[in-house]
Amino acid sequence: MISRDNRFQKRQDDLEILDHEHSEIHRQYIQLDDAILHGFGSARILEAARALVHTMGLHFTHEQQFQETNSVPVLEKQRTAGSRLMAEIVAIEEGLKQGEVYAALRLRGLCKGWMQEHMYVEMVELGFAALIYGSEPDRIQAQM
Ligand SMILES: [Fe+2]
Repeated sequence: MISRDNRFQKRQDDLEILDHEHSEIHRQYIQLDDAILHGFGSARILEAARALVHTMGLHFTHEQQFQETNSVPVLEKQRTAGSRLMAEIVAIEEGLKQGEVYAALRLRGLCKGWMQEHMYVEMVELGFAALIYGSEPDRIQAQM
């Protein structure tokens, strides 16, 4: 049986991982942006975009696991927005596999908007939700 302290520490560790992934996404976005704006050529643009789309896909998977593990309440509209975003990521990844530079441009726009809306809000929301509800999954179920 996992103690309350261990669950709390695991949540903190998971939140740090998500935060680290945010930093990595931001760093890779800058690399993609540089490759596009400085005309480094399609090979470098595609390479930067493939790295970024991979990290974003991984991050969304980790977020979902965090929400499930910690019984974080998710609104239906958040779930729908998340599914739409993931579908866009999959389509972009497919375009990148085909060598389409346009997919890298789509990713740049998508990532820029996502970073502006998502990162800070998510850390606050997930952190509070995990602290408040993490150890009381029955309470969450009752509220949904
Ligand atoms: Fe995130």
